Amino acid sequence: MHPPRSSLLAALCISLVGLYSCQREEDLAAPSSPAWNGPTPYQLVFPAWATSPMHDLIIPADNPLTVEGIALGRKLFYEKALSNDYSMSCASCHQQEFAFTDPRTVSVGTDGSLGRRNSMAVVNPAWDHQFFWDGRAPTLEMQAFGPVANMVEMRNTWPEVESRLAAHPEYPLLFEHAFGSPGVDSMRVVKAIAQFERTFISFNSRFDRYEYGGETTALTAQEITGRDLYFGAAHCNDCHAAPFFSDIVLSSIGTDGGSALDHGQEEVTGLHTDAFKFKTNTLRNIGVTAPYMHDGRFATLAAVVDFYMDSIDANSPNISQHMMPYFNGGVELDVAQRAALVAFLNALTDEEFLNNPALSDPN
Ligand code: HEC
Ligand code: HEC
Repeated sequence: MHPPRSSLLAALCISLVGLYSCQREEDLAAPSSPAWNGPTPYQLVFPAWATSPMHDLIIPADNPLTVEGIALGRKLFYEKALSNDYSMSCASCHQQEFAFTDPRTVSVGTDGSLGRRNSMAVVNPAWDHQFFWDGRAPTLEMQAFGPVANMVEMRNTWPEVESRLAAHPEYPLLFEHAFGSPGVDSMRVVKAIAQFERTFISFNSRFDRYEYGGETTALTAQEITGRDLYFGAAHCNDCHAAPFFSDIVLSSIGTDGGSALDHGQEEVTGLHTDAFKFKTNTLRNIGVTAPYMHDGRFATLAAVVDFYMDSIDANSPNISQHMMPYFNGGVELDVAQRAALVAFLNALTDEEFLNNPALSDPN
């Protein structure tokens, strides 16, 4: 009795899905036809445990996720016409195999000029509301406006990008599909890119399978020792808090005390009390995102751990209270413990994310 009923339901669903997808394919050439229902809503998929009081999933009301919007954003993320000389796309500095950062110490513009900051990994950005090392962009949409016109990055202008895309054989129709009406403009470009970036979801590292999936063999004994240090004696989770491995504040950890080169958040707010504060990056996939810190000063995770253990300067301006354990003798890790901590950090790598075909270059 029950089985036939549920299988009937399933059959109905399948035929509905079939009908729906057939209809979509036919309509692809004619979004303006009366039969077209608009862009197809898209639901993000992530585990139920991936929540924290500090992190809300942020999907702006004026930029809902759609299948067509994400597909357009993917193409644009890998689009070299965004740069002045067609040599560089977002992906040039945000490469999937490195969790969407790049291995260079600081980024390099299309003319070879050097920036002053290390590129940033883009991991679970749908839960974030402060972008860049100094937190100056409040949304992914606003963030994406930056690189195109940045003179040490893509060195282009938005009117030029708009006219290139409007004259392109494919883009005008893709924009119409994604936004339901004709028109190529910069706001739509950043909206589509932001939609694509919101699908950068990474919650399937070996740590996740151990911690949340109950797979007791997913971590080695050394990694478990490192895990216990991370959440305990080493105090890392005080700021890089699981499950996102970041908090929502910018902090000074003493990387730049006294340096005039980069004042971090002070450059945005103008407040001396914000000097040398930088974003607490997520540590998810940290094993593949070297070099480390806003200026890429550390080549290895071992060097980062040694820095926390040995070199934190209590007199650094605005140093975070959470850094106290490192300079008041509260954290003393021996060589084996430091190695275990590094091993644990490497277990935060999510191979599925780094190889997810839906995030690769579509061209
Ligand atoms: C020339 C290299 C380069 C290019 C090209 C580039 N970026 Fe970046 N990206 C960086 C650097 C460097 C930072 C950090 C800059 C800062 O903090 O001032 C960054 C930061 C970001 C962030 C912030 C991440 C976070 O967690 O706060 C996002 C998102 C991002 N870029 C996306 C993009 C998109 C989208 C494009 C294309 C429109 C792009 N980038 C093009 C180098 C680049
Ligand atoms: C006060 C909060 C705080 C604590 C505690 C803390 N961090 Fe950080 N962490 C930060 C901030 C802020 C940055 C960025 C600093 C910069 O670039 O100048 C950072 C950067 C890092 C980076 C480099 C990230 C990247 O993308 O380049 C790693 C790795 C790291 N921390 C690991 C750790 C480990 C391991 C611990 C524990 C031993 C720890 N952190 C404790 C706030 C903290």
